[in-house]
Amino acid sequence: MTREKNVLVTGGAGYIGSHTIVQLVENGFNPIIADDFRNSDISVLKGLEQITGRKIVHYDLDVCNYIELKSIFKNHSIAGVIHFAADKAVGESVSNPLKYYKNNIGGLVNVLELCSEFEIENFVFSSSCTVYGEPKEEKEVSESTPLSKANSPYGNTKLVGEQILLDLHNSGARMNILSLRYFNPIGAHPSGLIGELPVGKPNNLLPYVTQTAIGKQNELTVFGKDYPTPDGTCIRDYIHVCDLAEAHVKAILLLQQKESNFIDQVNIGTGKGTSVLEIINSFERLTGEKLNWKFGPRREGDVVEIYANVSKSFELLNWKCKYTFEDAIEHAWSWEKNLAQHA
Ligand code: WQD
Repeated sequence: MTREKNVLVTGGAGYIGSHTIVQLVENGFNPIIADDFRNSDISVLKGLEQITGRKIVHYDLDVCNYIELKSIFKNHSIAGVIHFAADKAVGESVSNPLKYYKNNIGGLVNVLELCSEFEIENFVFSSSCTVYGEPKEEKEVSESTPLSKANSPYGNTKLVGEQILLDLHNSGARMNILSLRYFNPIGAHPSGLIGELPVGKPNNLLPYVTQTAIGKQNELTVFGKDYPTPDGTCIRDYIHVCDLAEAHVKAILLLQQKESNFIDQVNIGTGKGTSVLEIINSFERLTGEKLNWKFGPRREGDVVEIYANVSKSFELLNWKCKYTFEDAIEHAWSWEKNLAQHA
């Protein structure tokens, strides 16, 4: 395999990471996973093998461990890095901020130091729409929308992460960098062989919906019913995880075409806002399941409404979503049912 095809994927066993591995293989790349499975399960490797028809090289390590991580750079000639490995629970980041700064910032710095040492040319960073905070007037945010002060340590690690990359770029680093600002990934691979595997109670809406429908959770609570939106519940931009994964392949391809010292940031969403009640209604309609849910108080720190302006992602990456919102719900449900069958 030639060097241009080797892509190191930190956090490659995670939810977005694993779907990105599939897309990389399907596009002729040779992904190498670095993941310590703290927030994923080793069984994902089997799912990846079944989907791609081959074994994926993986290293069971913590990206904060410089020495161990360095062994990957020594063993493989790497063309690019996609850096997912990070903690992502907003609430936990408030109660345990140092865990987030250590892993998300420390891990990023570690990976970047090794990228510099081994002259890695291309770097893709998992950022988040959380960098926009609560949009002021316009709920559709573009990349030129001013960034907002973070409302959690988790959010701050994404803001600081992007800033670290800008500083590195400004120092003249010979590295092409793209930050992908994800909106809300949902769904699972259409095969039902990989998907989201929340540890403990899910924090995010769709896994909570599917786990309630399958009986793992008793009841879904809808956080707030009196927001200034058409049905009173919050609005997000839900994107199929396979579409989001494909954007990473497009990002690597773009960076490989650039002269060194390129940097940019791009939204990865669908451009469409959907409310919590619309999710629940669509889930019930598409699956025929009756969901046990009730209204509860607002969740602290929730943004009321946000969705992506997707013009730049289309122009820069020549990418747009292939899957519908309905596909994502159906695939998430197939995945949940598969998990229940094999439990
Ligand atoms: C969606 C909507 C909830 C659960 C995500 C990530 C976070 C960050 C930003 C990642 C909201 C409502 C949820 C439930 C509910 N980005 N909800 N009952 O808040 O957009 O945060 O994006 O990189 O890490 O988590 O997504 O799925 O938590 O919530 O009513 O049990 O569903 O209030 O309106 P959110 P979410």
